[in-house]
Amino acid sequence: MITSSANVDSQYLFSKIVQHDESITPMHLDLPDEVDDTISLAYGDADPALFPVDALITAVDSMLTGNLDISLNYAPAYAGLVALVQERMARINIPLAHNEIMLANGSSQILSLLPQIMCDAGDVIIVEGPSFLGAVETFFNCGLTIETVPVRDDGMDLDILEATLVRLAAQGIRAKFIYTIPTFQNPTGSLMPLANRQRLVALAAQYGVLIVEDDAYGDLHFENPIPPKLIALDPKWVLYVGTFSKILAPGVRMAWACGPSEVIKRINRFKTEGSNGPFMTRLVAQVSADGWLDQHIAVLNANYAKKCQVMLETIAEAFPSDVRYNRPQGGFFVYAYLPADLPVSRLLPAAIANGVSFLPGTTCYADGQGTHEIRLAFSFQSLEKVVEGIRRLGATMHQLRQA
Ligand SMILES: Cc1ncc(COP(=O)(O)O)c(C=O)c1O
Repeated sequence: MITSSANVDSQYLFSKIVQHDESITPMHLDLPDEVDDTISLAYGDADPALFPVDALITAVDSMLTGNLDISLNYAPAYAGLVALVQERMARINIPLAHNEIMLANGSSQILSLLPQIMCDAGDVIIVEGPSFLGAVETFFNCGLTIETVPVRDDGMDLDILEATLVRLAAQGIRAKFIYTIPTFQNPTGSLMPLANRQRLVALAAQYGVLIVEDDAYGDLHFENPIPPKLIALDPKWVLYVGTFSKILAPGVRMAWACGPSEVIKRINRFKTEGSNGPFMTRLVAQVSADGWLDQHIAVLNANYAKKCQVMLETIAEAFPSDVRYNRPQGGFFVYAYLPADLPVSRLLPAAIANGVSFLPGTTCYADGQGTHEIRLAFSFQSLEKVVEGIRRLGATMHQLRQA
């Protein structure tokens, strides 16, 4: 029998960063599993009803009857998938050479390598707040010093970003990177307009700080065409991270990064799994070819737009009128700002007792902000459950007020 870990001296066994994580990670969260009738609006899972099951089965079938030796052995990343990414990026005016693109098993893999290749413990990075909890947690756990810049309806607050860069420069500090999600931000859904994008890349160039542009939701827009990517505005100062998770399926674990070849080269060198799966890279390339992916994205957008609209309409009916919320034009989330008497610490346990859960804003900041903010995902649940979940949450808010 293996000795219980309770007997092991954890101070000795683990790195300082892990010891630190166990004691104070502020964004840690334990939500109940979705049991019985509980409706989770917490996580940005894809809608299972929209998985392209038939297209995937056809692609797997043809791979299984083809030359399996190539896809089942060790092999480098499938060049056809790199070419597909290159072609998709070129279409939006981002021409890339081969050494400016890499594949990875999810954009989370790329984000988790950034501290290792770019930072030493204590180095400063700039992260918008609130932000994607996976990234915030990863950066925090690596012992980085996180400067939080608020997100407004039009994205990161650039006046505060500039003030932060000026303050750091006065202290002799040059931040290692700025992590931003300018397009349908997670969690706020905000979309940064062109003028702000131009100002952001100009600030990054002026202060010599690399921007990490996380574009996980970039293809999921419900309305008008969206502004150019940051990397299209200044390829020298932007590392772009894209993913197939939201436009194909998260389970395929396939993503890409592109940007300055010096950065790409180093991420590749420290990525221990080199090939990203000869089978999976071929599968993703095969299923996405010949315009199929664009047609699928159009189907996704029509469906997610409908769910977003229904969530917003139900919120308007069900929530107290002093709850403020955004109206996203894309992505997976509605973000709401609660009045003073309804902090998340009060609302979440009562909501769970009433059969609905959400993501507390506190999980999206490195510094404990977000006590009156909640993220509501419309992506995963069916239309009926989106409506029912929001009604339960609204009823919980009214009950707490009457208590
Ligand atoms: C902004 C953002 N970046 C990255 C990811 C992770 O994506 P992947 O599945 O490619 O690791 C997510 C997932 O929710 C996300 O919201």
